Amino acid sequence: MESYLNNAVEIAREAGGLLAQLFKRPHEISYKQPSDLVTDADRRSEALIIERLRSRFPKHSVVAEEGGGQETSSDYCWYVDPLDGTTNFAHGFPVFCATLGLTYRGEVVAGVAYDPTRDELFTAERGAGAYLNNQRIHVSKNANLGECLVATGFPPFAQDHELNIQFYHRFTRLSHGVRRAGSAALDLSYVAAGRFDGFWEMKLHPWDKAAGSLMVTEAGGRVTNLSGGPFDLQADEIFASNSLVHDQMGSIFAEYLPEPARTVPQTTAR
Ligand code: IPD
Ligand code: CA
Ligand code: CA
Repeated sequence: MESYLNNAVEIAREAGGLLAQLFKRPHEISYKQPSDLVTDADRRSEALIIERLRSRFPKHSVVAEEGGGQETSSDYCWYVDPLDGTTNFAHGFPVFCATLGLTYRGEVVAGVAYDPTRDELFTAERGAGAYLNNQRIHVSKNANLGECLVATGFPPFAQDHELNIQFYHRFTRLSHGVRRAGSAALDLSYVAAGRFDGFWEMKLHPWDKAAGSLMVTEAGGRVTNLSGGPFDLQADEIFASNSLVHDQMGSIFAEYLPEPARTVPQTTAR
């Protein structure tokens, strides 16, 4: 597994270097849907990553945001976001990364997120911990939501944000604040590094969260769905925390979400 992670690190660093060069130049921006931007940098970074993965792991499946991947019958699948934080990038806001997560039979086993503007490399390997620039990282020790800094995100395409706006509002009042920095992979890496105490988002793709979800669990945190049930990489949502405030945060979501189906039939009172 270590060699998979080493390869992912080399590739993410190379892609991040390309993003850093392109960041200084004017970008060609086009729209996938209104408000859903894509730049030349997304495409060029993805082409680089796909080429490197194909030459090193020709049998592995690759699922990449801009569609350059190819699914095979391999047990291994790479989830690639060549530029997580496209809107930031397009506006010259320096918060973005290249991220790759590797699954084996559906379970994330290795992940990397590289932020070239800060030269920060977040890595994790199943069972071997999470690291920032080769130094072991751990989630925060904050047990009180009132003293937490948390984060969320919103999908770029136009749709009903009503529920998450309510969560944003509630957590703004209940914590030290809610950051919406614009890169889910970095948000999750920051939970792993103890910079954020919790993060949730409701409309993400597997490539946004594959690496970061492993980062959080390997750093000692907890990753579930918004109802506190098992995390599913293929589902839209993720809720990650330092584990100590998971129940406090979860109780806020529970106020708005439908009750989970009861497994024990209720007896009727006589
Ligand atoms: C987006 C970022 C953002 C999140 C959006 C994602 P992209 O990815 O991760 O933080 O809030 O939901 O789509 O489009 O920049 O790769
Ligand atoms: Ca993304
Ligand atoms: Ca992207």
